[in-house]
Amino acid sequence: MPNAAEFAPPEPAPGAIRRIHLVAAARPNFMKVAPVYHALRRRPESYRPILVHTGQHYDANMSDAFFHDLSLPAPDHFLGVGSGSHATQTAAVMVAYEALCEAERPDMTIVVGDVNSTLAAALVAAKLGIPCAHLESGLRSRDRSMPEEINRLATDAIADLLWTPSVDADANLAAEGAPPERVACVGNVMIDSYEMMRPLIARDPGPAALGLAPGGYGVVTLHRPSNVDRRDALAELVDGLCRTAAHIDLVFPVHPRTRGRLAAFGLDRVIAAQPRIRAIEPLGYVAFMALVEKSCCVITDSGGVQEETTYLGIPCLTLRESTERPITVDQGSNRLVKPAALDAAIADVLAGRWPRGRRPLHWDGHAADRIVERMDHWFAGRDERIGLSLSLR
Ligand code: UD1
Ligand code: UDP
Repeated sequence: MPNAAEFAPPEPAPGAIRRIHLVAAARPNFMKVAPVYHALRRRPESYRPILVHTGQHYDANMSDAFFHDLSLPAPDHFLGVGSGSHATQTAAVMVAYEALCEAERPDMTIVVGDVNSTLAAALVAAKLGIPCAHLESGLRSRDRSMPEEINRLATDAIADLLWTPSVDADANLAAEGAPPERVACVGNVMIDSYEMMRPLIARDPGPAALGLAPGGYGVVTLHRPSNVDRRDALAELVDGLCRTAAHIDLVFPVHPRTRGRLAAFGLDRVIAAQPRIRAIEPLGYVAFMALVEKSCCVITDSGGVQEETTYLGIPCLTLRESTERPITVDQGSNRLVKPAALDAAIADVLAGRWPRGRRPLHWDGHAADRIVERMDHWFAGRDERIGLSLSLR
């Protein structure tokens, strides 16, 4: 078994084209890698982005649709790990990604977000001595019952470069003792995807495709295990949605985890009996954002959707006890809501009693440019160190 010292490839010649692995796995990852991929492609003399899809998400509407929407080519490598328990999935990514790294030896691995594949790829890179950057570093919910919180903590502990979306994340890393030279606030890269796709989103029919009027409906997404995996928790949420639907039409693109749980608990029939709740298949990025940006509110437990609604100033009702994105509450249009308080919160939205908020610093569509600047800086520093050590030989 090679260790980092045995594996470490010879240092690339200063100024060589750097081969960068961009690891994507699940729906929210594609919006984070796309802007970086396109920014690196604009610098062919310095970088070659290589897309690695672990296959954690694999349904066409959870994966392929996003490659199409975000103008990404087919992945260079597809690891095909699929679903499984946390250990099975994490281990499968590690085994497959280690083999790829041994064969291909990238100059840097970039992992994004907080899914199991994020941690798995970071572990492989760290042990093989491949420089690893974590994009969306430093977010903390302080709830270790969330699998994502474990993935965030562990990934940040081993990544070489910690690229944060907002200054609260910098503060979390500082409090944990992360060396400041590793941390950079690059901003929110998902907003880059939104800005990149904005013309197409504007042309999408959005609510008209469902016979709904702009501003006359809410959008729902749910998939957190704490909300959907237990019957009592999911039943309470479904009940809250049914009460809400007495006041407003709801469009509910149903995540596959949630679809499975609704059916297993017989709650799919409760939703189907509600004419004002449209339970539909997950949407592609452009169609989803077209629906969100014309909605009157979003009811969600998604991480990314809390950010997108803050950027757009759309009321966001987050059905969770905590958020790793508190800046969307402190500065944006997001509020944590308990299922029992959903009706009251909707009444506030409909009465115009909901803060529109403001956009956090560096949520401006230029995060990928800042990331490439950080990469230039990091590789220049490394070239300098190699040059120095060669001159001392
Ligand atoms: C995963 C991430 C979560 C992220 C979410 C984004 C982890 C621990 N969780 O949760 O952080 O917010 O993705 O959507 O990494 N399934 C399908 N088709 C697919 C993908 C999944 O049917 O293409 C079903 C399978 O039954 C699978 C289940 O959904 O077992 C859960 O998928 P998984 O990737 O394990 O977790 P998510 O809930 O999607
Ligand atoms: N999204 C989408 N189609 C949908 C639901 C969500 O394109 O039907 C997008 C959404 O705009 C956001 C991302 O998926 O960019 C969020 O993914 P998800 O909620 O699955 O994961 P999380 O952010 O909670 O990890």
